Amino acid sequence: MSFLVVDHVSKFFPGHAGGGDVCIFKDVTLKVDKGEFVTVIGHSGCGKSTLLNIIAGLETLSEGGVILNGREVSGPGLDRMVVFQNFALMPWMTVFENIALAVRSAYPDWDQAQVVAHVHKYIALVGLKGAEDKRPIALSGGMKQRVGLARAFSIEPKVLLLDEPFAQIDALTRGVIQEELVQMWNATRNTVFMVTHDVDEAILLSDRIMLMTNGPSSRIAEIVDVTIPRPRSRDTVIEHPHYYKIRNHVIHFLVRHAAHGVASERGVQRESPAAAPLVVRF
Ligand SMILES: Nc1ncnc2c1ncn2[C@@H]1O[C@H](COP(=O)(O)OP(=O)(O)O)[C@@H](O)[C@H]1O
Ligand SMILES: [Mg+2]
Repeated sequence: MSFLVVDHVSKFFPGHAGGGDVCIFKDVTLKVDKGEFVTVIGHSGCGKSTLLNIIAGLETLSEGGVILNGREVSGPGLDRMVVFQNFALMPWMTVFENIALAVRSAYPDWDQAQVVAHVHKYIALVGLKGAEDKRPIALSGGMKQRVGLARAFSIEPKVLLLDEPFAQIDALTRGVIQEELVQMWNATRNTVFMVTHDVDEAILLSDRIMLMTNGPSSRIAEIVDVTIPRPRSRDTVIEHPHYYKIRNHVIHFLVRHAAHGVASERGVQRESPAAAPLVVRF
């Protein structure tokens, strides 16, 4: 039994007036092991955020179920923590207070000294020492997202859900924070489910990359096993002989699905809507 199971999940949204429901994705099944880092890549609008929000319990599903550690997910909970691309910090609270708020709600029995020590540990892990008393307005986008990541990791949830957390961050800073995320994940070995459209980011971070077709009726068509050994860093990972094979494979998938668009997805649907994803191992 896997740690996190997305079991035959479909999602429909009501269509425009007069039209029927729109199928965002159909029959998505995926299994994530404890401590695994998986990413989902697909074109904009294919349903990645909807899938992540269903796992978070923030969005309802139309068919199927999500099972975490043997229990069905039926709403949001502290066992799943989401990091959004727009940071979602409390603007009137300092860096310290934003993280402490989450820690106190996750560990209501802890005394003040335990909370303070725990918050400082995660502030140090994301390189925010010295910025504890700043409010979000005084922080750059990169620093705000460091707070978001520290807050999410600090409550040590069963699953961390990251929805394109670096989308709003400039390319240079993004690289630095990706490395910090690698280090934080190495230190904690949390289970992570991450949405991205950055192929290099996915290879650096993932044990497995799930490739999603375009909507409507999108599906996870392929799963790429990334066997490049850990620990990884941005410098060393590109030296590995598999790196460009994986990169080319993923980019080809994305180009293929960008070119064919909706019509080809109708074709895919007719063929075999519930075909199991192709597993590709590098
Ligand atoms: N609340 C909603 N009602 C209707 N359609 C929605 C809603 N939320 C998302 N969608 C549609 O579902 C599709 C997938 O959206 P989303 O999951 O945000 O895609 P992604 O994150 O892959 O870019 C899009 O076509 C979007 O317009
Ligand atoms: Mg999205």
